[in-house]
Amino acid sequence: MKEKIIYVCGECGYESSKWLGRCPNCGKWNSFVEEIRGRKKYMEKTAEPTRINEIVIPEIIRIKSGISEFDRVVGNGIVKGSLILIAGEPGVGKSTLLISVGAKISQQGKTVLYVSGEESSSQTKIRAERLSISSDNLYILSTTQIPAIKESINKIQPEILIIDSIQAIYDPEIPTTPGTVTQIRENTNFFMNFSKATNTAVFLVGHITKEGSIAGPKILEHIVDVVLYFEGEPRSNLRILRAIKNRFGSTMEIGVFSMEEDGLKEIPDAGALFLKDYHQNLPGQTIFPAQQGTRTLLVEIQALVAPTYYGIPKRSVIGLDYNRVSLILAVLEKKLHFNFGTHDVYVNAGGGIKIDEPASDLPVSIACVSSLKDVPPLEGSILIGEISLTGEIRPVKLINKRLKEAERLGFKKAIIPKVNSQEITKTSLQIFPVRWLKEAIEVSLPP
Ligand code: TYD
Ligand code: MG
Repeated sequence: MKEKIIYVCGECGYESSKWLGRCPNCGKWNSFVEEIRGRKKYMEKTAEPTRINEIVIPEIIRIKSGISEFDRVVGNGIVKGSLILIAGEPGVGKSTLLISVGAKISQQGKTVLYVSGEESSSQTKIRAERLSISSDNLYILSTTQIPAIKESINKIQPEILIIDSIQAIYDPEIPTTPGTVTQIRENTNFFMNFSKATNTAVFLVGHITKEGSIAGPKILEHIVDVVLYFEGEPRSNLRILRAIKNRFGSTMEIGVFSMEEDGLKEIPDAGALFLKDYHQNLPGQTIFPAQQGTRTLLVEIQALVAPTYYGIPKRSVIGLDYNRVSLILAVLEKKLHFNFGTHDVYVNAGGGIKIDEPASDLPVSIACVSSLKDVPPLEGSILIGEISLTGEIRPVKLINKRLKEAERLGFKKAIIPKVNSQEITKTSLQIFPVRWLKEAIEVSLPP
């Protein structure tokens, strides 16, 4: 095959024969990097057609680490032969998480190989000591080179392979520098083939930066089986693990951890975690029982509505969907004649959590109106409900789970969609079923 130069978008992997200033696929500027193609010869595997009745579905075997916040997110255990990407910003704790998971699994007598391309073996050992990790079956290899990794894999034959990080790994047979799209993609393909051929679970660590780095893990998301994001705010020790893609499980589950001096601690009872700074009953503040997979988390929704003195009214939304907040404001304007057009509106989900459920519409709308009127919402109440374009309150999923958690955390009243009210099982909460947004405002913000 002849060598040829192509240009690849480092953000989304779009390929072009010419250099482009802006990617026509993802819209990113200055993301194209030069790649040389064709030198490496690939053996195409010959494939035979098989009768559908003769295809055997392999049994899915899952390995549990015992860290239940982790196991739940990967889909109740790590699937053998799967390729898992863990992406996150530098310093969030990816290495800490994976060495902990690797250690736990190795203590079950399974061989684990942890390849560190960024730290020396002694640096990894120092981290392990800080985490009080010791195991005879956990191997550390400090290298960036594919040939060295191949050699160790053959020698040790691990059941779990951890590559920290994929951006640091380099194959000298591929004629581009480390960290380029081609290197990352080809090396990921190598680990993919290895995991399938040997039924080994392989973890790849991928760094992402706030603005989405060149040759970032985005292009890998299509290749791997599972994509996990490890997130946290710099000033907080709270860490959230979430699945963005999972061929073997749900993408609804989250795992909650706290980064302590001596490692990551699980937070199994996270129900009230996002209420930590909750000061009861101030204008612009409502409580929403959010559902994240099987877990209910009570989250404070904060709104600040202030007059605009010049220019276009400002809208700022953190932790919620911007478009849904705009929609809610439009419904409040059009149907109920509230005047947000002359006001700046800021809406946050407290504690740095991200909410993407329409069920948060009602608490968002009440928080906005509460701030606009400067009236606190009904004391001790939670709010749940999706709002339609007509201003009707639509039903939500898992109403009983949400109510139960609110009850457990000491709330007294719940304003919920009328349609959901027949489903309610025993509760000590005082229930206010509402059909229209107008009713909800009358109940939660009495004049
Ligand atoms: P690290 O796992 O190295 O992050 P990543 O691999 O995602 O870049 O951890 C980063 C930070 O966590 C580092 O600043 C030190 C801190 N840390 C703790 O607070 N406690 C610990 O037990 C460890 C190992 C690290
Ligand atoms: Mg690291």
